[in-house]
Amino acid sequence: MAVQRTGGVAGQSSSAEARAEIARLSEAIRRHNTLYYRLSAPEVSDAEYDALFERLRALEGAHPDLVHADSPTQGVEVLSDGVDTGEEVAVGLEGGVEHLAPMLSLDSAHDLETVGRFHERVLEALEGEPPRYVLEPKLDGASVELVYRDGAFERAVTRGDGRAGEDVTHNVTRVRSVPRRLSRESAPVPREVSIRGEVIMYRSDFEALNEERARKREEAMRLAREEGRDATGVGPQPYKNPRNVASGALRQLELDEAKARRLTVLAFELLEVEGGEPLETHTGTLSVLGAWGLLTPERVRTARSVDEIAAYRGAFEADRDSLDYEIDGVVAKLDDLAQRERLGSTSHHPRWALAYKFPPRQREARVAGILTQVGRTGVLTPVARLEAVWPEDGLEPEAGIRLGGVLVSRASLHNREEVERKDIREGDRVLVQRAGDVIPQVVARVEEEGVERGAPYRMPSACPACGAKAVDRGPFRACPDQVGCPAQLKARIAHFASRHAFDIEGLAGRTIDRLVDAGVVSGVADLFELAVDDLAPFVKEGKATQWRRNLVAAIHARREVALDRFLVGLGVPHVGAAVARSLAHRFGELEALRGATVEELQAIHGVGPIIAEAIRGFLDRREVVETLAELEASGVRALPLSLLPDVDAAADEWRDKRVVLTGRIEGYSRRELASVLVGLGARVTATVTGQTDLLVAGANPGRSKVEKAIELGVELLDERGLRERLGRSAAATQAR
Ligand code: IVH
Repeated sequence: MAVQRTGGVAGQSSSAEARAEIARLSEAIRRHNTLYYRLSAPEVSDAEYDALFERLRALEGAHPDLVHADSPTQGVEVLSDGVDTGEEVAVGLEGGVEHLAPMLSLDSAHDLETVGRFHERVLEALEGEPPRYVLEPKLDGASVELVYRDGAFERAVTRGDGRAGEDVTHNVTRVRSVPRRLSRESAPVPREVSIRGEVIMYRSDFEALNEERARKREEAMRLAREEGRDATGVGPQPYKNPRNVASGALRQLELDEAKARRLTVLAFELLEVEGGEPLETHTGTLSVLGAWGLLTPERVRTARSVDEIAAYRGAFEADRDSLDYEIDGVVAKLDDLAQRERLGSTSHHPRWALAYKFPPRQREARVAGILTQVGRTGVLTPVARLEAVWPEDGLEPEAGIRLGGVLVSRASLHNREEVERKDIREGDRVLVQRAGDVIPQVVARVEEEGVERGAPYRMPSACPACGAKAVDRGPFRACPDQVGCPAQLKARIAHFASRHAFDIEGLAGRTIDRLVDAGVVSGVADLFELAVDDLAPFVKEGKATQWRRNLVAAIHARREVALDRFLVGLGVPHVGAAVARSLAHRFGELEALRGATVEELQAIHGVGPIIAEAIRGFLDRREVVETLAELEASGVRALPLSLLPDVDAAADEWRDKRVVLTGRIEGYSRRELASVLVGLGARVTATVTGQTDLLVAGANPGRSKVEKAIELGVELLDERGLRERLGRSAAATQAR
């Protein structure tokens, strides 16, 4: 496709022409984005793509009033090679936007006794007043908060840590079941309202999405074969389950129309209503939500006893496989909202509701083979490969068994001791179980009469990845070569890049495999030395330059992370997010922690003698010392929490301010800065609107954002201004 230019410089085109061209360009770019990133099937060269993008940006620059919040320029920006312009982390900001009211979790029960105890507690708290419960399906998707102001959809935020989540407005805007405006026809609309619901993908939509992917895959494979390229693994692969696609599509930084359109939000709670009619019951809430035009769960019933709750769950469980959506249990909630108040909440869940979960799904399958996975610390995990089954209506066998809509091709056999105890062998029939998000497991062997069994399984005596002689550590067998084993390295990198650690967008799975296999990366520090040209191995896979640039930019953007993330990323034994945070608070700086004695470590909440020894031992290990030196040499820095303003110092200057960030601020990655500001009470949002209080514009700011801010009279803060204001906040803390 040739790039069309309408001629003349942007500023000279008339508004109507510009509008039409912006629409045409946006659509073309979106289409190319999909082809580029998702389908690995580019239609235009990088130069042509860049030209389209530049043209759109120029037009928008000349006509800021025509910039749509969903314009491709407002999401991922084109980067010059590897340079962080501060705009690369699209609109989504990890932990960035505070909820209007905390999004609590649900307490859960797996048996009737626990439900009985819940009922008893409710009875007791209500001092004999009879409770009435509303029963709903427990939808298995991703939690979301929808905020409406004056009836207009304002933003959507993921649950995150319950206090603050990610801004996912750009994706939710495309969800059909989320009205842009609440209907006022049959119920008054409050000034500000926070609606809580679940983002799901109906099974039928999920299947349609996969069919579309299958068609594109065939097309891409046909093309590859025609061009004499290797067609294996080419094109989009099928998704495994609706839940993960739903939460992935929701959190995706860049809008993916095809997926977002297929999402559905079912609303089930109202939080924090400002203005509007007071509600008395949950049934009332559900009908108001419906009157406003939102979808709510189906088959809602009421109950007064534990038996009725059990019967409801039984009926849903019986129908579980024929529903068009996934559920993992039912929820019982008090109907009377005043009674809810009396029950109150813990910091984790309300005391007025209970999820009564289904038992894990189990199915029989045959073990086609047993393979060994190598983990981050070298532990070898035996994994059963499950024999493919031929679905009744299918033309070809599926790559595994179906367990509640999820295709399961592998199930864990835990460790050396377990596989020996259960005596699982190749060819055996086994019971496989999947509960929630956890890795499917082999529960037990199913006895078969008159069937000859294979030879007993023996865990390999050498590491399958590097060949090192394996050693036994308690019930585990492990590869001892922590330095040279490529499988351990891959797992370490995956952990380093994961969500609670360095949180590097797009660095996972096959990408890591390729980087390590091609010898481009041989330690975590190498990641930060990557340039776009180093990603040549990916060119063979048809990954476009833009994809490679984005990956490099995403890595570079995470050069500086808070100390707690840094520690999680290193993989200090027993140190999860919570302990890491305590360590970061206590020691402030990495160097101080590195000099800590076992006694000092032990004095920390949550750290006992065993963990203290393990941390000390880890920090003294030669490989760890080397890795830390390499990271330092690559410019990777752990930001001491003390240098960040105290999150408790709710300086008035930031509290409740709506802030938009653009451009680069020296010393902070964008996410880091967002979480600092949120910590100070600000709300960080993605787009400049009339509600915005402040636009923080660092180096190389997004021009359209700045112009919009000027137009709307939004206060602008440059880097110096920001530092001053943060400094003042910090000083206010010190003065206490
Ligand atoms: S009520 C304060 N109702 O389950 C309690 N939650 O495990 C608000 N969920 O994060 C939640 N279906 O996303 C409620 N009918 C339902 C639900 C439901 C699914 C999710 C929700 C929550 C999670 C808690």
